[in-house]
Amino acid sequence: MSLPSRVQIIDVGPRDGLQNEKQPVPAAVKIELVHLLQAAGLTEIEVTSFVSPKWVPQMADNAEVMAGIHRQNGVRYSVLTPNAQGYAAAVNSRPDEIVVFAAASQAFSQKNINCSIEESIERFAPVVQAALAAGVAVRGAMSCAVGCPYEGDVSPDSVAHLAGLMRQIGVQRVDMADTIGTATPVKVQRALEATLKHFDIDHVSGHFHDTYGQALANTLAALQMGVWNFQSSVAGLGGCPYAKGATGNVATEELVYLLHGMGISTGIDLDKLIDAGGFISAHLGRKTQSRVASAILSKRG
Ligand code: HMG
Ligand code: MG
Repeated sequence: MSLPSRVQIIDVGPRDGLQNEKQPVPAAVKIELVHLLQAAGLTEIEVTSFVSPKWVPQMADNAEVMAGIHRQNGVRYSVLTPNAQGYAAAVNSRPDEIVVFAAASQAFSQKNINCSIEESIERFAPVVQAALAAGVAVRGAMSCAVGCPYEGDVSPDSVAHLAGLMRQIGVQRVDMADTIGTATPVKVQRALEATLKHFDIDHVSGHFHDTYGQALANTLAALQMGVWNFQSSVAGLGGCPYAKGATGNVATEELVYLLHGMGISTGIDLDKLIDAGGFISAHLGRKTQSRVASAILSKRG
């Protein structure tokens, strides 16, 4: 079994984690969270999304949050852009990377971004072109790559189809996302194999929600295939507004504990990461979703 010796993590907590919060989280708190994450050694942070504030009110302060961050050298700040309007707004905030997001299931595409998969790709194509021309990196998220809250099981063929479309329009790397956290390891490996028909292993990441407690098992299954890019959310924050009942991403603390325990480096300081999770959990007035953080905090006393 050959595992990667190093893993790159994108913390998506400020975006995927907070987008579903009902109470508005002040921009200053989001900015402080980004600062604490970079202080903990995260070198990729998904900060916000330039989506419709009517659809996702929590992300309405996108420009303010981007403007407030003290950028650290070597850190990549990414933002979601669903269409040309989102890109035009995002580019003023100088993101290092934009994320176009499509779904492997038609029903989820309609619920999430109000168009079919094919229409979404048509919308993304000029956005991707503009970003690449401006020297902004482009990632593509593939939601519901294993299961869909409306359609049930999603076939690897649907994933391969979407990955091919993403590739055609110039997306540089893709996230294989288990949006609703129902995936199990073998299904993850099938979805990854489908993705690998169009992207090489260095350009595929795993984005696992932990709704059914499978995210770490799924991470290991992906690691065994050589995947070394993952997304997670500090304190296990999150959920998608268009996937009822879906909970947060796997906690970054869980991922770091797993990887370090296996001798795989991440560049992340787990103690400082736990402090970042403590900060946002205290602000939200709830206990962290990370069992690793809970265990270490109780040892700290
Ligand atoms: P629409 O209503 O079809 O858009 O929404 P439209 O083009 O018909 O425009 C309607 C109104 O929205 C207009 O305003 C536009 O100006 C405005 P009005 O004239 O009514 O006042 N509008 C915008 N405003 C701000 N920014 C924009 C924008 N575009 C249009 N970019 C749209 C289509 C995509 C905008 C909408 O469906 C939307 O914003 N959806 C949000 C989707 C979202 O953020 N979902 C959560 C993130 S995805 C996720 O969490 C999954 C992921 O983590 C991976 C995984 O786990 O699967 C990535
Ligand atoms: Mg997600």
